[in-house]
Amino acid sequence: MKNRSLVSISDYSKEEILKILELAGEFEKQPHADLLKGKVIASLFFEPSTRTRLSFESAVQKLGGSIVGFSDSSSSSTTKGESLNDTIRTVSNYADLIVMRHPIEGSARFASEISGVPVVNAGDGANQHPTQTLLDLYSIKKTQGKLEDLNIFLVGDLKYGRTVHSLLEAMSMFNPTFNFISHEKLQMPKEYKLFLDKKGIKYYEHEQFTDIISRADIMYMTRVQRERFSDPIEYEKTKNTYVLRNEMLKNTKENLKILHPLPRVNEIHQSVDSNPKAYYFEQALNGVYTRQAIIAAILGLK
Ligand code: CP
Repeated sequence: MKNRSLVSISDYSKEEILKILELAGEFEKQPHADLLKGKVIASLFFEPSTRTRLSFESAVQKLGGSIVGFSDSSSSSTTKGESLNDTIRTVSNYADLIVMRHPIEGSARFASEISGVPVVNAGDGANQHPTQTLLDLYSIKKTQGKLEDLNIFLVGDLKYGRTVHSLLEAMSMFNPTFNFISHEKLQMPKEYKLFLDKKGIKYYEHEQFTDIISRADIMYMTRVQRERFSDPIEYEKTKNTYVLRNEMLKNTKENLKILHPLPRVNEIHQSVDSNPKAYYFEQALNGVYTRQAIIAAILGLK
């Protein structure tokens, strides 16, 4: 992992992923306050973010490093017409590692190819969000005690949701059974289903919430990604298809945990928040430990 960019979750092997999770566990137990002393992390967010940006910043500060960057590209020279190429070439002179979120699919890969320092993809369009996946895996392992042989339900916007795409690839290393629940217009893209077919991993597609959720170990809810729709009418038609309510959890498994990368809009009713099966805010906290581990591993400090 040392000096290697993290653009797609498949850039890392199963062993490397497990190593990051182990490191995250260490950071949860012990903060390691001086590990990043003298190191500068650039945080370039060309798209809005609360959790990813702030948990990266929190991770860097807890490790004693410094952070530079922008949370809104309108305050950068992008507004003067500067290309991504020139921004990355410049910023890689100022930092030891670049964390970047960008609306264009493939932008993180491009950045990693021209940058003089490693690039961590904090989300590129509807493509991938690998650091979210690592914190999701950490959350699954922590709550289930294992990653293998789980029944994973992915619910909501499976077409544009980059977190489910990365999670599907990563969980496929651990012999899962997938159930996809989505509106017919927001189904899991074909390439991901072909990927599962090739690996011989079972998956089932549904358009309705039914009693089948009683089989779930993990229910991963997602919001409909309004910003990816070219037609606002299509968004209006699909936006409230799935709303998880507390009463729907009555016959679910004892070990079930409800995850959501957040932000949520309407897809989880607030009545669910106090249910012990709701885990999304703890999941967001796990993002700090996991991002500490990612930075430390890439910079070769752990
Ligand atoms: N999960 C996630 O990516 O959230 P933000 O958009 O707030 O960073």
